[in-house]
Amino acid sequence: MNGKVIVVTSGKGGVGKTTTSANISAGLAKLGEKVTVIDVDVGLRNLDVVMGLEGRVVFDLVDVLEGKCRIKQALIRDKRVDSLFLLPASQTRDKDSLSIDGMKELVRQLLEEEGMDRVIIDSPAGIETGFKVAAAPATAALVVVNPEVSSVRDADRIIGLLEANEVRESRLVINRMRPKMVARGDMLSVDDVIEILAVKPIGIIPEDEGILISTNIGEPASLSGATKAGIAFFDTARRIHGEDVPFPKLEDKDGFFASLGKLFRRG
Ligand SMILES: Nc1ncnc2c1ncn2[C@@H]1O[C@H](COP(=O)(O)OP(=O)(O)OP(=O)(O)O)[C@@H](O)[C@H]1O
Ligand SMILES: [Mg+2]
Repeated sequence: MNGKVIVVTSGKGGVGKTTTSANISAGLAKLGEKVTVIDVDVGLRNLDVVMGLEGRVVFDLVDVLEGKCRIKQALIRDKRVDSLFLLPASQTRDKDSLSIDGMKELVRQLLEEEGMDRVIIDSPAGIETGFKVAAAPATAALVVVNPEVSSVRDADRIIGLLEANEVRESRLVINRMRPKMVARGDMLSVDDVIEILAVKPIGIIPEDEGILISTNIGEPASLSGATKAGIAFFDTARRIHGEDVPFPKLEDKDGFFASLGKLFRRG
């Protein structure tokens, strides 16, 4: 992807934005990029936990935006990949402490003064202030979607909003695929989701309990590459980085849900 500033968003909550942000950032850093991942979920921060960096949080995003510390003081460098940095969210403040202009300036400094190759922004759920602040500095988006009707509908809404906000490069991360359910016709297929949303995928991630384990130990699955989801997330990072990595075939059949496509099509 060309965009250096990528917002990870979905509309619907709990579909895997934070998991995707952690794994893609770690994957890109492993590929040699200098990356900062920003947690914009102010009040409900958990990216630090998913990345195993919660014990090292001193300053946070709101402290930087309010001028209470310098960016360098708030950035937490990952000890496993030293080109990976986390800017954690504040746990005590609410989303009203965020400003669009402040975020744009912060991201400019990360690129121009801190020399980041990529800034990944983990958006909160919803389409309100948190989403708007997260999307404002972005030049590209990863839209995380689960193969289920409510998630696809929210993704459709978010894609429209991203276009309206002039985030031109949107790609899908289809998360929690269960090939056996698709084969039985009980789950939307990858092709269904792509057809409904009319946006190209850049990542197809299987349902994998390895994600739960890696979250519990605070190590992004893409770093070890020992699980199916970890490999799929690392492949996604490689595609974002510019490598031509084919998608593994997860399913052959057209799902029963294909006919739902017409319900979603945007004018
Ligand atoms: N591929 C996967 N396989 C299994 N579990 C997953 C997968 N992806 C995410 N999960 C689990 O789903 C839950 C929600 O994931 P996550 O916190 O990343 O979602 P989110 O979109 O950031 O949520 P929120 O909207 O609350 O910020 C977590 O418990 C996570 O471990
Ligand atoms: Mg989250």
